[in-house]
Amino acid sequence: MKNITCIDDLRELARRRVPRAFFQYADHGSYSMSTLRANRDDLERMKLRQRVMVDVDKRDTSTKILGEKAALPIALAPIGLLGMQHGDGEILAARAAQEAGIPFTLSTMSIGSIEDVAAAVDKPFWFQLYVIRDRGFMKALIERAIAAKCSALVLTVDLQILGQRHCDIKNGMTVPPEIRVRNIIDIATKPAWALSILKGKRKTFGNLAGHVKGMENVTSLSQWTASQFDPTLNWKDIEWIRSIWPGKLILKGILDVEDAKVAAKTGASAMIVSNHGGRQLDGAPSSISALPKIADAVGSDIEIMFDGGIRSGQDVLRALALGAKSCMVGRAYVYGLGAGGQAGVAKSIDIIRRELDVTMALCGVKRIDEIGPQVLADYDRRMNARA
Ligand code: GLV
Repeated sequence: MKNITCIDDLRELARRRVPRAFFQYADHGSYSMSTLRANRDDLERMKLRQRVMVDVDKRDTSTKILGEKAALPIALAPIGLLGMQHGDGEILAARAAQEAGIPFTLSTMSIGSIEDVAAAVDKPFWFQLYVIRDRGFMKALIERAIAAKCSALVLTVDLQILGQRHCDIKNGMTVPPEIRVRNIIDIATKPAWALSILKGKRKTFGNLAGHVKGMENVTSLSQWTASQFDPTLNWKDIEWIRSIWPGKLILKGILDVEDAKVAAKTGASAMIVSNHGGRQLDGAPSSISALPKIADAVGSDIEIMFDGGIRSGQDVLRALALGAKSCMVGRAYVYGLGAGGQAGVAKSIDIIRRELDVTMALCGVKRIDEIGPQVLADYDRRMNARA
């Protein structure tokens, strides 16, 4: 992948290689996309503190995530329909994550199934759970994750109801792709994508087809979500989930300090400060603006992870400076997958790794656990505001 130097280059390549409906599904946010933009704007606005004449030889970007060694403070986020960005997308991303020494999270709404991914990698991966109304199916799904030796369950808590993404409606996005004249023209101009999908093991939701009614035929994600996701999901359900899932539990989608305090008492191993990549409540604050308050309130009780707008190693450092122990990366690796399959995902991770390494050095830190608010240019102001 020559001349690819940053995540934006991968995004541009993915935009050209992946049919519009799937590219935009991942790329866009809900409604006016103001929260999607805020995630990026607020990260970019954070200035870093340049330090000089510090010995920064022998740097180390490795860390621990949920007590397990990781080569970088990042995990690959769960992405619905990942296998529509590239055939066998889940398997390829899981392999790239494994090679890079970081966790991969498989979405409930993935194309490749839990079993497909388990058969393709040696190391355990994380499984993300959406709670749907059919609790019998839920129990069976969690048991499949246990059988596949998944090492953490990531419960998404911010999507009982789907925020509308205008592009999905306008594009008539369906899985498998609906054969409309407009789609045919689009797909015909993306032959490498079409071939990868044809060669891929599955063309519909691998975790659900054959297990839940109504998944056999062409289905729109938004219709299916509206009819199947359980809108009654509430804090009490965590006990039920924990009665089935004995392992590490991560709560994904906390943006409010009051919610964070409740989440910290559930016995979960970690929470992810997240607004679902600006795909749910449009008008919500950026994830990065919510992070410091939550880290201050509960960071000593529960491991804090962060997602929302991470496109570079600089962004990872920013989130760690404000109290996150690690970050989930979503679109940044989805672009890599669309741009070049497993090599593209590996490239995304490598870009972020290199950026993080250099940025640490230029901020005068050598290890991940040295990253704190002192790497931010407005460190003095932050400290005074706290005092
Ligand atoms: C699903 O998680 C989505 O954001 O589309």
